[in-house]
Amino acid sequence: PAHHALFRQMPKAELHCHLLGSVRHATFAALARKSGAPMSTQEIDAFYIRGEKPVGVLKALRALDQYLLVSADDLYRITFEYLEDAAAHGVRYSEFFWNPTGTVRVSGIPYPEAQAAIVAGIRDAERDHGIIGRLVPSIDREADPAEAVAMVDWVTTHRVPEVVGIGMDYREVDHPPEWFATAYASARRAGLRTTAHAGEFGMPWPNVRTAVELLHCDRIDHGYTIVDNPELARQYAERGIVFTVVPTNSHYLRTLPPERWALDHPIRRMVQLGLAVHPNTDDPTMHNVTPTGAWQLMYTHLGCSIAQLRDFMLNGLRAAWIDGSTRDAWM
Ligand code: ADE
Ligand code: ZN
Repeated sequence: PAHHALFRQMPKAELHCHLLGSVRHATFAALARKSGAPMSTQEIDAFYIRGEKPVGVLKALRALDQYLLVSADDLYRITFEYLEDAAAHGVRYSEFFWNPTGTVRVSGIPYPEAQAAIVAGIRDAERDHGIIGRLVPSIDREADPAEAVAMVDWVTTHRVPEVVGIGMDYREVDHPPEWFATAYASARRAGLRTTAHAGEFGMPWPNVRTAVELLHCDRIDHGYTIVDNPELARQYAERGIVFTVVPTNSHYLRTLPPERWALDHPIRRMVQLGLAVHPNTDDPTMHNVTPTGAWQLMYTHLGCSIAQLRDFMLNGLRAAWIDGSTRDAWM
């Protein structure tokens, strides 16, 4: 397709990708065999069906925690492979999510060992592929809010430079952001940066406002329903709040035929409202999207110009949790 080489080669920052949503199909199958998981090949394949809507992604992530990830070595492997695959698509810098609560409580791998394995994967991937990885432990909002406070305690107790902030994900429906105010306040007091999934799954714009105003998030993941409140969008555009959007994975996208994306897609409307967006893959292997593809879709399906893509790149650098001198050296 037109411009494919350009989209592949352009140096990218990735700010919204889930480690467990990046596991290669072959690795998923290998981990299932190794752990003796009670899952058929067909069940595994269903998580990866190409071109289908990604209904099963959260289930696939739960299956990984429940059956497939049994040792810290498994976390090392998926971290290294994710960063290797991202580097092959021109990603130079990635802040990626990982949910410690499931790893510790379900997989039974203690936090310090799990974190150390992921950090080792980050260091080896930088050595071998030149990509810089940063880890963003993410609150599992389907778990008890007390678990979120515990997670922040683990992060601050075992603090390493590769861990730059926290996020929050899983199912937003019936798990509102305000439940997690204590955990976010504690993270901020410890000097961690913060983001949260909000306004996804069609959940209305007040969740976006709560994430910004109550949780004091530095940026927002998804955030699509802010388009339903143009006045709030105007304010957040003015404040320069960056939204890490996912062209393959918005609630609205699943209900829109591709020929209407350029007109009705919430990401397109966010851009029109002047909001600062930055395109990402979210769960690349399970949604069958690459970093190249995410950027290319902004151009081919959402009608953004190359000049706008350049602005999105700068939004990403501005929103990245790197120190000022590193950012200046890049820009
Ligand atoms: N975890 C992985 N991908 C997610 C998404 N798109 N929304 C919420 N939680 C997730
Ligand atoms: Zn996400």
